[in-house]
Amino acid sequence: MSYKPKTVIEPFKIKMVEPLPLLSEEQRATAIKKAHYNLFSLDAQDVTFDLLTDSGTSAMSATQWAGIMIGDESYAGSQSFRKFESTVQEITGLKHVIPTHQGRSAEDLLMKALICEGDAVLGNTHFDTTRANILSAGARAIDLPSPEVKNTGAFAPFKGNMDLDRLAAQLEKNNSSIALVIMTVTNNSIGGQPVSMENLKAVRLLTQKYNIPLFLDVARFAENAYFIKLREPGYEEKSVPSIVQEMFSYADGALMSAKKDAFANIGGFLAVNSDSLAEKVRSLMVITEGFPTYGGLAGRDMEALAIGLREIQEEHYLQYRLRSVAYFGEGIEQAGIPVVKPFGGHAIYLDAAKALPHIPPHEFPGQALSVALYERIGIRGVEIGTVMMGYRDPESGEEHPADLELVRLAMPRRVYTQSHVDYMIEMLSQLVPELPALKGYKFTYQPPLLRHFTARFAPL
Ligand SMILES: Cc1ncc(COP(=O)(O)O)c(C=O)c1O
Repeated sequence: MSYKPKTVIEPFKIKMVEPLPLLSEEQRATAIKKAHYNLFSLDAQDVTFDLLTDSGTSAMSATQWAGIMIGDESYAGSQSFRKFESTVQEITGLKHVIPTHQGRSAEDLLMKALICEGDAVLGNTHFDTTRANILSAGARAIDLPSPEVKNTGAFAPFKGNMDLDRLAAQLEKNNSSIALVIMTVTNNSIGGQPVSMENLKAVRLLTQKYNIPLFLDVARFAENAYFIKLREPGYEEKSVPSIVQEMFSYADGALMSAKKDAFANIGGFLAVNSDSLAEKVRSLMVITEGFPTYGGLAGRDMEALAIGLREIQEEHYLQYRLRSVAYFGEGIEQAGIPVVKPFGGHAIYLDAAKALPHIPPHEFPGQALSVALYERIGIRGVEIGTVMMGYRDPESGEEHPADLELVRLAMPRRVYTQSHVDYMIEMLSQLVPELPALKGYKFTYQPPLLRHFTARFAPL
């Protein structure tokens, strides 16, 4: 008889460590004031648990570090590019692989190549950099998330889905001005929620009917595939790579910020089937991004990416990844802070509107909660609410609030251990009684685009 463990362990052992900055509450209060209450302006050395992002923050494996040493740094046609190219082709089934230094440059190139002034780009929810690239190419970014998103506490297995009725209506009414449709898997902006295969297939059928290209934003493709395996009938026995292949089979192309599901610290790509689109992108990219066989990356980066893209699909890793994120979420909920459910793949999203009902959207409850998490515990998260997703009307000066007021605590891959997580949960339960006394914030400066990165705030 074999033993049946309940604990899902980290499927790796640690070879190299770095010290964790441990500061007093007074030191943190000084640091956040100096940063104008914007967590992006803090020095990393002042942060104990850096949950700002899972992007570019993964611990690479020994095999990836070994790959770094054999990177071929030739300007054109390097071996490392060929390895990267064939890996992406094999995983995605897409023909042309164009490396980029990160996800947003793939977005920029795609939008410049496909969009005309006045077009619209539909999506299940565009990520903020995607939205900014669509807007700066002169088009409108339209989000059509599933209606289940509004109920942040309710369980729905695939809250990342596209609202098919609204998609069909948009396609029927405006198809001549819709440049493309983007499905983001998993759907980062609404809680890292997965998209089902059924939904992807349905979106494919609708876009095909109107001859509109369908692209996947696959920053977290492996996490999405494992959710499909766990939750979608008919996929329980399928391997992750075969689920991944099916996901890509519905797309005309894919964009990836490889700083997530490739365990890499930098990198991205655009992969497309169309020869003419690939040619257009390659001629655009040489102006700013680099030659088409390195696209802003070093050969060693492409080696690490090729290895990481395979490692991420290992099921022991994915089981640990989704379970350890859910463990954190369960602990936070038990501590008494409302969270978005079900838990996303890469992050836990705190519902700041419910946690701080006394702070209205225009006083930024998510910002207030994130500053408190830093000051009291040393956790750096990120507001995904009115600061990031809302906007100020340039004429009236009025703030347009976001649909949700969230704080994202993103888990870097293979970085923090279970006792780090236990410590954070313990400290969060001590923060709960203080929540009713927290105050809102106001802008003292905001830039016109992507304001959350560089805005400055003052407490009210
Ligand atoms: C879904 C998604 N798309 C695109 C991006 C942008 O990628 P990058 O930060 O590599 O430019 C991100 C980054 O967080 C993301 O989560």
